Amino acid sequence: MAAALLAVSTAVHSELYPFGGGVTSTGNVNRGATTWSNNCARCHELRSPTEFRDDIWKPIMTHMRIRAGLTGGQTRDVLAFL
Ligand code: HEC
Repeated sequence: MAAALLAVSTAVHSELYPFGGGVTSTGNVNRGATTWSNNCARCHELRSPTEFRDDIWKPIMTHMRIRAGLTGGQTRDVLAFL
């Protein structure tokens, strides 16, 4: 599981951050909470992290990260928080 996650995030990482530098490949819960509260209430009510299961949040975030214009790193942070 951890290895698979790492492989996926490494792939996303190199695609989104061609210049490397300072971006961790696993999400940061505190940054995720900030990103979530700053971005996810712009278009609709802030949805509670407990409203959806973890495996439901993933496809939601795949969709919403595009709407919110989040980077891969920000998306991982929000998912870590959710
Ligand atoms: C640019 C506007 C915008 C931003 C920013 C945005 N959303 Fe959304 N969101 C929408 C719209 C529009 C919908 C309605 C349904 C759709 O597009 O499928 C929606 C729907 C949702 C839903 C409901 C999905 C469902 O199946 O019931 C959730 C949950 C959600 N957003 C979470 C988030 C989270 C978390 C973030 C922050 C990462 C976020 N949204 C940021 C526009 C946005």
